[in-house]
Amino acid sequence: MEVETDTAATVPPPPPPTDAIVSQLPWIEKYRPKSLSELIAHDEIITILNKLIESNRLPHLLFHGPPGTGKTSTIIACAKKMFGEKYSSMTLELNASDDRGIDVVRDQIKEFAGTKKLFSTGVKLIILDEADAMTADAQAALRRVIEKYTANTRFCMICNYVNKITPALQSRCTRFRFAPLQSEQIQGRLDEVVMSESVNASESGKRAILQLAGGDLRRVLNLLQVTIAPSPAQSSAIKTFVHFVIRHIYIHMYAAFCQMGFVVHDYCSPHTWQRTHLETLWTNKQCI
Ligand SMILES: Nc1ncnc2c1ncn2[C@@H]1O[C@H](COP(=O)(O)OP(=O)(O)OP(=O)(O)O)[C@@H](O)[C@H]1O
Ligand SMILES: [Mg+2]
Repeated sequence: MEVETDTAATVPPPPPPTDAIVSQLPWIEKYRPKSLSELIAHDEIITILNKLIESNRLPHLLFHGPPGTGKTSTIIACAKKMFGEKYSSMTLELNASDDRGIDVVRDQIKEFAGTKKLFSTGVKLIILDEADAMTADAQAALRRVIEKYTANTRFCMICNYVNKITPALQSRCTRFRFAPLQSEQIQGRLDEVVMSESVNASESGKRAILQLAGGDLRRVLNLLQVTIAPSPAQSSAIKTFVHFVIRHIYIHMYAAFCQMGFVVHDYCSPHTWQRTHLETLWTNKQCI
């Protein structure tokens, strides 16, 4: 029997993030629900999960549905409810489509799940995100892994396309479908964030964001954040683009006036460097 000391008891949980760190987080993380009650929509799913956790009867889970509907947020909130402060030592989050293959995933699962804790009771949780990107062989291997560690581990597979999960894996899990969020459901959260970030958003602007998002709350938050606060990289890209556009407008206007026979310098006096640059470009017929 493999035995390990109760790491959950000896390793202190990470310190809570400071205000400065929180304020720099992308809004999708800053506003990620911290508990099941903070999730919007999917009330039935939340009720069932709450009951299963409270009665210690959590089965293996399969969450599926389009992006940005709360699948990852829901399982993280479940894990926090189940493990409290021991959340990080009792939960393993893996990308099931790991490029390095199922062997790496299997080794990580084996290391995490294959050890018994001396003093802790209850099961551990393994979250397998992007499970639909796994090959059929990898899914077959995962089936055996799940069986082997069922005694002390629960698996939660998450995917966008449930039809890409083999029937054998599906039948080992309780399935929950996360439907796209309704505009009315998103509206409340959007208003909350707009208010808490003091965003000057018009009603038509908010409507446009809701329409563009198509039921994906992650997209709503990302759109809102980039709309009001371009990052340094975005600012620099926008600046380059604006320079590019202005330069082309200048050149085309200059060319048009020259073609019409005007001597542009008679009408305006641009900076010398601009004039020289435009004349050179015009002479060489570059970019025109
Ligand atoms: N039902 C929800 N309630 C509250 N917030 C949500 C909900 N769904 C999405 N969000 C917000 O959108 C962000 C992304 O959600 P999440 O990561 O849970 O989506 P997902 O369904 O796992 O998407 P994907 O399939 O792309 O992984 C969260 O951080 C949260 O801010
Ligand atoms: Mg996710």
